[in-house]
Amino acid sequence: MGGVLLELRGLSKSYDGRARALDDVSLEVRRGEFVSVIGSSGAGKSTLLRCVNRLVDPTEGSVAFDGDDMVRARGRALRACRRRIAMVFQHYNLVHRATAIENVLQGRLGYKSTIAGMLGLFSEEEKRRAFEILDQVGLADFAYTRTDQLSGGQKQRVGIARALVQDPLLMLADEPIASLDPKSSRTVMEHLRWAADELGVACLVNLHQVDFALEFSDRIVGLAGGRLVFDGAPDELDEAMIARIYGANAEDAEGFGVAAGAVRSAERPGAPSAAPASVAAAGPAATSDGPTASGVVAA
Ligand SMILES: Nc1ncnc2c1ncn2[C@@H]1O[C@H](COP(=O)(O)OP(=O)(O)O)[C@@H](O)[C@H]1O
Ligand SMILES: [Mg+2]
Repeated sequence: MGGVLLELRGLSKSYDGRARALDDVSLEVRRGEFVSVIGSSGAGKSTLLRCVNRLVDPTEGSVAFDGDDMVRARGRALRACRRRIAMVFQHYNLVHRATAIENVLQGRLGYKSTIAGMLGLFSEEEKRRAFEILDQVGLADFAYTRTDQLSGGQKQRVGIARALVQDPLLMLADEPIASLDPKSSRTVMEHLRWAADELGVACLVNLHQVDFALEFSDRIVGLAGGRLVFDGAPDELDEAMIARIYGANAEDAEGFGVAAGAVRSAERPGAPSAAPASVAAAGPAATSDGPTASGVVAA
């Protein structure tokens, strides 16, 4: 893992003057780091991701991406930043009638003039690269298959390939496995993790499934009521903290019963053994002290 890639400081968002959907969130993501964001429905996870690539304008705070100020960026500068930030969606957002490779090539549009993009003018190098990435996510045999013929897990891998062909530094994934069965979910998580480990693409992933967050993440961020209530390594996330993150919606913490004590990132081959520096949690004591410092809100 490298230096800091994304730095959020005091980020807040209120939609139409309503209560804050995101409330004073500060957070760092390092190059090649895999960070999961967990929290119950309405906690602000999607708002957080959208503030990063400016699909939503934050009300307060700053977003520094690769040294650039995303909040003030306009026009050409904003487009240049967005090229290096790829997005993966819960419902894939594919063009169903197009083939897998045509969908992947859409990821190159940010590098093209509107006309070249509309005409589908891609270089041989771009096509070769698109095929190579499809191969890397296990879909070489489906490159020329229409995506409406693919399973959900295959569609999401096309979504990941489309994101990666952008040559991103950061991949934002908003509930990428929420519509998938457990086996496909695992495959998709493995490919996201592979992108972080092998391609050095930092991943910021909103997840409902705590067990997958525990297993695949370098770090987990917990949101409750728009506030950051946890930021630490998977093995620092105990049941009390889960209850705090999910508040009255503890049953939302899908899979935690299975995961607790059973699957830990430390047991995953190649997982970093040292907990990264974190603003909130630094061991068991942090459960009562650390996160409180940044303000705890009951969900
Ligand atoms: N476009 C929007 N307009 C108004 N309110 C919104 C909008 N998007 C989200 N919200 C509100 O902001 C809060 C956080 O939502 P969201 O970021 O979608 O949370 P999550 O992704 O964790 O479910 C919720 O109260 C939600 O109703
Ligand atoms: Mg959401």
